[in-house]
Amino acid sequence: MPALEDPLDVGGVELRNRLYRAPLLECAGNGSDAVDTLIRELEPAAEAGAGLICQGATVVREEGGCAAPGMTRVSDPAFVARLERLTDAVHDHGSRIFLQLEHGGLRSMETWHAGYRAEHPHLTQLAVSRPPRALRALDRVGFLDYDPRVLDTEEVYDLAADFGRSAEYAVAAGYDGIHIAGANAGIVQQFLSPFYNRRDDEFGGSFAARTRFLELVLEEIRSRAGRDVPVVTKVPAETAAPPFVRRRISLADGVRTCERLAEAGFDALVPVQVSVFWDASIVRGEFPDRAWRDDRFRAGYADAFGSRARTGLVALLNWIQSKAYDFEPAWNRQYTRRVAERVSVPVLAEGGVRTRSQIDRLLSAGDCDAVGMGRPFYAEPRLPARILGGGAETRETAVVCENCNNCTVPQAAGARGVCRTPSVLEERGALRDAGAYDRAEASGRAEPEDREES
Ligand SMILES: Cc1cc2nc3c(=O)[nH]c(=O)nc-3n(C[C@H](O)[C@H](O)[C@H](O)COP(=O)(O)O)c2cc1C
Ligand code: SF4
Repeated sequence: MPALEDPLDVGGVELRNRLYRAPLLECAGNGSDAVDTLIRELEPAAEAGAGLICQGATVVREEGGCAAPGMTRVSDPAFVARLERLTDAVHDHGSRIFLQLEHGGLRSMETWHAGYRAEHPHLTQLAVSRPPRALRALDRVGFLDYDPRVLDTEEVYDLAADFGRSAEYAVAAGYDGIHIAGANAGIVQQFLSPFYNRRDDEFGGSFAARTRFLELVLEEIRSRAGRDVPVVTKVPAETAAPPFVRRRISLADGVRTCERLAEAGFDALVPVQVSVFWDASIVRGEFPDRAWRDDRFRAGYADAFGSRARTGLVALLNWIQSKAYDFEPAWNRQYTRRVAERVSVPVLAEGGVRTRSQIDRLLSAGDCDAVGMGRPFYAEPRLPARILGGGAETRETAVVCENCNNCTVPQAAGARGVCRTPSVLEERGALRDAGAYDRAEASGRAEPEDREES
């Protein structure tokens, strides 16, 4: 069985090892500092030895489709060309970088972010079908704000073509592969999920038809960006949805979807257990009490959620979710294992992986072919330097991230994606001072933590 330090072939691109940074929002936007922000957030992982860096979700259209503040749009070829500085920086350290493509659909920001809605009153949301009853009810009571527009068949083809075009620009800018945001309740999951998809054309009505959109996206990427560009997607199983949701992707359906996508030509798969809603199921852990109480974000929360009272309600829902979605080590393991038994393309595992020994167990049991982490990279941008190596010391390594989720909610207020727990940052500082992040090839550049806020 492979070790973490062994290389891995993903669609013809060789990763130097099997440790990757899972896609996490960098909140870099498209402004004049966007490329510098991305380099600052992502280069340290490359420099510290990561095999692959998955950039956080970016939006394939010029307008609409953003799920959160600060997402970068990749519909303008001139802007995407500027990202070559980022891909060069990553390649200089021997790492690979994939760009994740997304469209929020019914999850788009104007449905939940009051300030954004006020600034963009004309925005409608691309919808796979009429919104599900539960979401219409939330719209009626004013908790969400929908103005949906159901895509006709031709518009579905147009949307897939936009994914293809963004992929083409990305590959021209030096990205090594494309990652599809298939499991964050955005439009790709909305096509896959019977909770959302009630279509009666070629994109709905049967299990096969619901996966058709993702297959079409793959075809568009291949025809526009090149036959040999690796394409990876997250594949949801909606096992974390509340019990009242009856139509959803079961674990067995998720496995079947993975088999179908592997046959269709996807080069790697990331099976993840999620909800049908954009809730805390993808970031299992604690209630971020500190972040909700932080005075620096109060005005941003009120702008996002409409008022202080509504902010309190959202915080309460967040607390309920934190009880429902307890942290569980390597929580996707059962799903990735079932997929790995059935497909011949690499299976990537992420979600709650926190120690080197856990990683070794996942790989040696054949549960997956590569292992990723998300929040631990916010806490330690140079984490690979501590995890990789394979000696007795690295085998004992555990990340410093405490799954407290203080990094998550401030992003609703437009704050950056960084670790915000002082005790964790102190621990990182102590590790840095002890030389834990030093690698032979490190360039002596200022540590990112020197520039962080807590
Ligand atoms: C703040 C934040 C932003 C995220 N952004 C993305 C994203 O853009 N695309 C995506 O597919 N997953 C995203 N994720 C999910 C991560 O990729 C990962 O699956 C999740 O955090 C679980 O891994 P972890 O327990 O190691 O953090 C995000 C997670 C967090 C905490
Ligand atoms: S705030 Fe820091 S310690 Fe808490 S989950 Fe985020 S990265 Fe981990």
